[in-house]
Amino acid sequence: MWLQFAQEVFLTRIHKICIVGGTGFVGRHLAPRLARAGYNLRIPTRHAFRHRDLQVLPNLELIEADIHEERTLGSLFADCQAVINLVGILNERGHDGSGFRRVHVDLPRKIVDTCHAKGVHRLLHMSALGAEDTPETSFYLRTKAEGEKLVHLMAGDNLAVTSFRPSVIFGPGDSFLNRFAKLLRVVPGVFPLACAKARFQPVYVGDVANAFHFALEDQNSFGERLDLCGPRIYTLEELVHYTAGLIGVKRLIVPLPDWMSRLQASILEYFPGKPFSLDNYRSLQKDSICPEGVSTCPTALESIAPLYLGGEDWEDRLQRLREQARRT
Ligand SMILES: NC(=O)c1ccc[n+]([C@@H]2O[C@H](COP(=O)([O-])OP(=O)(O)OC[C@H]3O[C@@H](n4cnc5c(N)ncnc54)[C@H](OP(=O)(O)O)[C@@H]3O)[C@@H](O)[C@H]2O)c1
Repeated sequence: MWLQFAQEVFLTRIHKICIVGGTGFVGRHLAPRLARAGYNLRIPTRHAFRHRDLQVLPNLELIEADIHEERTLGSLFADCQAVINLVGILNERGHDGSGFRRVHVDLPRKIVDTCHAKGVHRLLHMSALGAEDTPETSFYLRTKAEGEKLVHLMAGDNLAVTSFRPSVIFGPGDSFLNRFAKLLRVVPGVFPLACAKARFQPVYVGDVANAFHFALEDQNSFGERLDLCGPRIYTLEELVHYTAGLIGVKRLIVPLPDWMSRLQASILEYFPGKPFSLDNYRSLQKDSICPEGVSTCPTALESIAPLYLGGEDWEDRLQRLREQARRT
């Protein structure tokens, strides 16, 4: 049955892919790779104007759309043979988990339903390492786990799903090392660090894009959930020290005790843009590392981070270029 289905999927060769959430950090690395490989891409966005630079790719269609509307999803997927779901949030507007649920559970459900309705046979779904449905963990990790489980359960015999579970992802335009670089530049002297002992196995965005590209037409990945981890494990404190060294600022990095980390989160979650939240704090209680610390992706942080952290912040640079081109 599975073999017959696999053959059917590849009889319908993949020509067009809809990348939902394709305007973000990962999408911006994945889309050019898939476009170069000859796929036609359709990327929906809430803000087409902000992302119109993506349209330089000749085989990419950028469409302003509300992806939470099932009818809209239907027309977006209509002539596609594959869908990639990259939509995810680290913080919600409210505090009760409903914002996470809407994006990480309700949307994947609509995506799978629409794939079935429109005869799309291939779905690549982005989850997160450490996603697990236990009451003590964060809404982020719980809803990611629920969404991941749901897409595999709902796939049935007509949809080949592969999900990806990366640790924190680094690369030009990331919001992890770049965020710490920005904070280190503006916080003078002493840098208080919450959850300093949390451990990560950072994975390069180029390796993540490779994993998606490779899996797309690889029958061995059907039904799989793939952990994506880089070659080394670091504590958050080590990563922040490393970032400070790269950007050339001297700060006394002071790890906060657990109660102060929690307190910091409960205060900062009411700041504009939620720079740190209780939900982030709960996510950080669990190490984001692969089982046994096994590495599944080869690129070392030290071979890439100096290329984009040394100078101006990537987002600031883009903003400066936009301003120069009068495109703010
Ligand atoms: N970056 C990491 O370190 C990391 C680690 C583990 C897992 N992940 C997962 O990997 C995926 C991609 O991450 P990323 O860093 O590329 O994320 P990102 O830069 O924040 O991009 C996510 C995209 O999703 C869309 N989006 C966000 N909220 C939405 C909403 N409420 N409704 C509709 N669309 C929405 C946005 O598109 P528009 O604004 O154009 O509409 C955005 O471009 C996410 O699922 C994330 O959870 C990331």
